[in-house]
Amino acid sequence: MIGCGSAAEIRGGLGIRLSGVAELAAVADNDRGRAEAYANSFGIDRWYGEGQDLIDDPEVEAVYIATPNKFHHPLTLAAAHAGKPVLCEKPFGTSVEENLEMIEACQKAGVLLSVSYYRRFYPSVQRAKRLIDEGAIGQVTLAGIHATHFLGEHHRPDLAPRHWLIEKDMAGAGVFQRAGSHRIDVLVYLLGAVRTVHADIDRMGEGYDVDDASVALLRFESGAQGFIAMHHTITGSETDWIEICGTKGRILLDPLDQCRVTVETSEGRKVFDDPVPESSTLSVIDDFVRAVETGSRTICPAEEALKTNRVIYGGYRASAGGSPVSLG
Ligand SMILES: NC(=O)c1ccc[n+]([C@@H]2O[C@H](COP(=O)([O-])OP(=O)(O)OC[C@H]3O[C@@H](n4cnc5c(N)ncnc54)[C@H](O)[C@@H]3O)[C@@H](O)[C@H]2O)c1
Repeated sequence: MIGCGSAAEIRGGLGIRLSGVAELAAVADNDRGRAEAYANSFGIDRWYGEGQDLIDDPEVEAVYIATPNKFHHPLTLAAAHAGKPVLCEKPFGTSVEENLEMIEACQKAGVLLSVSYYRRFYPSVQRAKRLIDEGAIGQVTLAGIHATHFLGEHHRPDLAPRHWLIEKDMAGAGVFQRAGSHRIDVLVYLLGAVRTVHADIDRMGEGYDVDDASVALLRFESGAQGFIAMHHTITGSETDWIEICGTKGRILLDPLDQCRVTVETSEGRKVFDDPVPESSTLSVIDDFVRAVETGSRTICPAEEALKTNRVIYGGYRASAGGSPVSLG
């Protein structure tokens, strides 16, 4: 695992520690003291101050990249060069161009490249997928995302322990990428690729150089329309829902992270409180290990994450240019 920060604590790092099929062989952080402290906390023998040293360690069979976004690309290329499969944190680099190079490098090396989009595994998202695929809401015509709860430390530059989140050079972008990556990925998982995107993405606050306000319109390859509203500007309330509507009804995932699903059709309204996974990423880790061992696909291979990033970075282009962008 490269990067021993928050994701190491509560996302992939926790998933690896809980997994019965993966082992945390070594950790690296360019804050070497942090790598050492993490290793000592969890009984890990080897730690490094450089990601490259971990990649070169012969005991390391696969690499989980949990660094700030800027380093997803070079570390993936380095791991591919060393012939090691990669599980990359979202948002999977900071541009489509980077993604294409990452995918090509891993293909050439013959190693798996997958992205840690754990919400695909939520029982609620799985339920929605089943219902949509069974035709329970008919032909999907409309989907929406509304997320305004990301009011964390990054919005208070004076308090920011993860200051890189509001630095464009390190993060790549703001709310449309940060909150959008997971949520647009859920739409891509449920409805497939997006054909065109139009967006208005802005920065309304002061003291940082990434966007905190975004709205977007989508047209999926399937013909369905989509809308997105994601803000870091709102205090005093939280929203985080995804809605899928079709010719026979609708499915509402609200709140997304509490795995509550509401299904409304002509047969009535049903509410399901699906179990919230104890560790968001345990399933991702087990899925990744299975895929490495058997050569099968993961639930979110890089090519799927690329579809999401085409929407995100296409959205930024559409907003800058003032006209819709075709995602080809
Ligand atoms: N924190 C979360 O809940 C969460 C959730 C999903 C995804 N992610 C993703 O995980 C990644 C890491 O985010 P985080 O929240 O853990 O950030 P963080 O700042 O808490 O931790 C990042 C760690 O990486 C280290 N680091 C920085 N550059 C490095 C380099 N070049 N080589 C090695 N180590 C380096 C830092 O010293 C730090 O310890 C990001 O891409 C983020 O989008 C985080």
